[in-house]
Amino acid sequence: MVHSSPPPATLDHRLQRLLLVAAVFALTVLVLQPFRSPLSSTSKLHSGVRFEPSSFDWAAVARHHPVSLIHELPTGPTANLQRVQHDFSGYRHDAKTTSRQQAVRAAFVQSWESYKKYAWTMDELAPVSGEGKNTFGGWAATLVDALDTLWIMDLRGDFYLAASVAARLDWANTTDTSVNLFETTIRHLGGLLSAYDLSKEPALLEKAKELGNMLYLAFDTPNSLPGFWLNFDDAKQGLQVAGTNDPSASPCSLSLEFTRLSQLTGDNRFYDAVSRVTDFLERTQNSSKLPGMWPKLIDFREESVSTETGFTLGALADSLYEYLPKMAVLLGGRSPRYEKMHRNAMATVVDYLLFRPMLPEDDEHKDILFAGDAYVHTDAIDRVPEGQHLSCFTGGMFALGGKLFNIPDHVDIGERMARGCAWAYNAFPTGLMPEIFRIVPCSSIDGPCPWDQALWQKDGDQRLKKGFANARDPRYILRPEAIESIFLLYRITGKDDLRDVAWRMFQSVMKATKTPLANSAIADVTARGETEKLDSMESFWLAETLKYFYLIFSPPNVISLDEFILNTEAHPFQRPK
Ligand SMILES: *[C@@H]1O[C@H](CO)[C@@H](O)[C@H](O)[C@H]1NC(C)=O
Ligand SMILES: *[C@@H]1O[C@H](CO)[C@@H](O)[C@H](O)[C@H]1NC(C)=O
Repeated sequence: MVHSSPPPATLDHRLQRLLLVAAVFALTVLVLQPFRSPLSSTSKLHSGVRFEPSSFDWAAVARHHPVSLIHELPTGPTANLQRVQHDFSGYRHDAKTTSRQQAVRAAFVQSWESYKKYAWTMDELAPVSGEGKNTFGGWAATLVDALDTLWIMDLRGDFYLAASVAARLDWANTTDTSVNLFETTIRHLGGLLSAYDLSKEPALLEKAKELGNMLYLAFDTPNSLPGFWLNFDDAKQGLQVAGTNDPSASPCSLSLEFTRLSQLTGDNRFYDAVSRVTDFLERTQNSSKLPGMWPKLIDFREESVSTETGFTLGALADSLYEYLPKMAVLLGGRSPRYEKMHRNAMATVVDYLLFRPMLPEDDEHKDILFAGDAYVHTDAIDRVPEGQHLSCFTGGMFALGGKLFNIPDHVDIGERMARGCAWAYNAFPTGLMPEIFRIVPCSSIDGPCPWDQALWQKDGDQRLKKGFANARDPRYILRPEAIESIFLLYRITGKDDLRDVAWRMFQSVMKATKTPLANSAIADVTARGETEKLDSMESFWLAETLKYFYLIFSPPNVISLDEFILNTEAHPFQRPK
């Protein structure tokens, strides 16, 4: 809810009307006090968070490869993006949903308390041994990643406790010699920016800006495209070059965070840096071996996408695609190129990447879809029906793009994909989906697909549920992508059964991953009985997985998708009004 600023001294009619509306509003708020969503207390200003500068100032390092022109954020009126959320008017929050929401919150609190006790200010808690580990530079990754979840779950005391640590992080204090540009951008920069967008604590924006100044130097290469690592010494000496064989997602999904940083600071350099990557994407979209898509690995130094043969929406490429429609949103629709690239890419995805598993006639989920891989050879395209937990975000992406750009077929595809992931959760004894698996596909994603017993016996794994060919990587590592898509589909379609789907997933996750301290990645979702714990709890457990579970059981106006756009680490950024 937005509170208006104080009225000026003179009262004209418009103002009187405004005051009346404000009075009615205030009364309503008073009456509805017990039903307020946690978000409505954002106006309570708190300025106890003190910024402390890092011991090295990256803003003072000049580019060795300066750019001649800084591209500015597009201005002008916002263009016609369609409303994202289903019309929830008349929505009533019932007791069952509240108790589910509180169960998710309790799971968060347990993991968070253990992190505080055993791994405070370290990157991760090891949830079995109760130790801390540093995996991302030692800048409290779990803490920074969890800031906005603390806020959303109304754990305000802990939010301010964590925010005061975050605002004192020293980006120069690390034993690492380089930083992973992508991970640091989506987790730390994204985490600080969304915590600022929600709380308006100036110290958090200051800290984000400081980190942005460091990460910005990664773009200081001869062609202004960044490498995978930001190496501190190379950056200071101007020795960085773009990579020749880097995951396409890495340089190509920094755009939301850098753009938000420009919007909030008024410093266009950050937007300029990522707009050059977008230029590259636009230039090369039709010159790959699978026109419309960019390959998994890209030679950013030669700016070539034409030799690599592998294409996917999963690992290595995923968020490149995710960020196209989301950038259209963050820029208020002012830059048509993102929609264009999205439409073009999704057309290729529909033609070559989607699979429908062959299922028995009585299976009620016969129309579900998965995203697989494609390898383009000289005379053939090898389509690989291999699903990944990581590519489960695509259901949400299709539905979001379908809603924004008014492509109803894509909302439908998105739902079939999101339900596909939910179906795959249910297919295993733990109720969880493997990290990587293969299906026995139908010949097309639409049209008839009769059950073929002989084919199933030839290609299927008889120990698995009908439809699966293998569970090649049987781990579940607390990933969010399946619940992410179920959440998005719920907010987009309003279909209530998706909440029951989510609840079932949540219960399975808790049962299979709970440790005395927190929750842990597990070795094998096909296990019957006790699961083997891998003593790992990546920061996305608190940043993403539990946030999505919490949000789907929250009233739909909590982090409304018409007010916020979430980055690939589930950090909500305020959309332009
Ligand atoms: C540097 O970081 C470590 C933890 O990563 C911390 O223990 C230490 O106090 C920090 N030093 C300074 C000078 O901030
Ligand atoms: C790429 O090809 C698609 C489909 O043929 C077309 O719609 C699009 O405009 C092309 N993009 C560019 C940048 O040429």
